[in-house]
Amino acid sequence: MEFNDVLYSRRSIRSFTSRKLSAAEITGLVDAAIQAPSACNMQSWHFYAVTDPEKKAQFKQVCSEWATTAPVIFVVCTDGEAIVSRFGERAKNLFILQDTAAALENLLLKAVDMGLGGCWMGAFNEDECRKILDIPDKYNIVAIVPVGEPAFMPPKRDRKPLADVLTVVGEAAADEPEKRPDDKKEPMTIRGVSAPDAIFNDVNFSHALFENINLDHAEFSNINMEGVRFSDINMTKTFFGGLNLSQSFFGCVDFNEAQFESPCFDNAVFKGCSMKNVTFEDCDMEGAVIKPKGKDTEIKL
Ligand SMILES: Cc1cc2nc3c(=O)[nH]c(=O)nc-3n(C[C@H](O)[C@H](O)[C@H](O)COP(=O)(O)O)c2cc1C
Repeated sequence: MEFNDVLYSRRSIRSFTSRKLSAAEITGLVDAAIQAPSACNMQSWHFYAVTDPEKKAQFKQVCSEWATTAPVIFVVCTDGEAIVSRFGERAKNLFILQDTAAALENLLLKAVDMGLGGCWMGAFNEDECRKILDIPDKYNIVAIVPVGEPAFMPPKRDRKPLADVLTVVGEAAADEPEKRPDDKKEPMTIRGVSAPDAIFNDVNFSHALFENINLDHAEFSNINMEGVRFSDINMTKTFFGGLNLSQSFFGCVDFNEAQFESPCFDNAVFKGCSMKNVTFEDCDMEGAVIKPKGKDTEIKL
């Protein structure tokens, strides 16, 4: 990926698909981490990569339950004995923490480049973590970082304006600050999750992408779903009430026994969908195109 794409598309990821990471992917992430600068190049860091299911499950007591669903949980520690004996308090309070922080950001950016994502977690129970992994006292635990393939790509969180965080002392070359690439809002992406009986109410899913999801018996009400894209979804018995589904795309969606009440389907496209016993009540479907499974002809309404 281009550097700017990596930098500006990184998000804190807190839900993961079931895809496991290979040994090469895990070492690749840590190898990227240790390319970071470090005080005196003493590389005062140590990483644990936890993939063992039983150990991971115990992280419920360390941080959050969602973290245990990541295929790998990194525990980032300082290993500062050597540098602290040389530089004392400044090394202890600053250098070794900065070393690990720089490495950690490298790891998160490398994850994005590999199509993965993770979350930097500072709120955790250090004693519990030390006990579970038998971490020696000489290491300080700085952060927990669950990493995996994102199941849900959250929208970009706002940043303060540059003018609030930057003091230029001296001449600046340009009059106009460069526009940040993240100024454009990206659609939400949700993939590879099972959410039977889920209830979605008053959410803006405009142009969102849903891929490979089980939404059996789900309920969508009062949601703006204009331009939404659904692919490989189980929506059996799903209820859709009062939705704007104009310009939406449904590919290989199982709608058997679904119920649609007063939605707007203007210019919607359905391809390869299964729609046995579906109920459409009071629908506005002007210009919608339906292509039944196994048939070449499209029904244009
Ligand atoms: C030092 C630090 C500690 C953090 N601790 C947590 C945490 O305990 N739990 C969590 O869910 N996110 C945590 N985060 C992630 C932040 O919430 C997140 O980076 C921030 O909201 C900006 O969102 P973004 O990473 O998607 O840009 C932490 C981030 C940092 C840098």
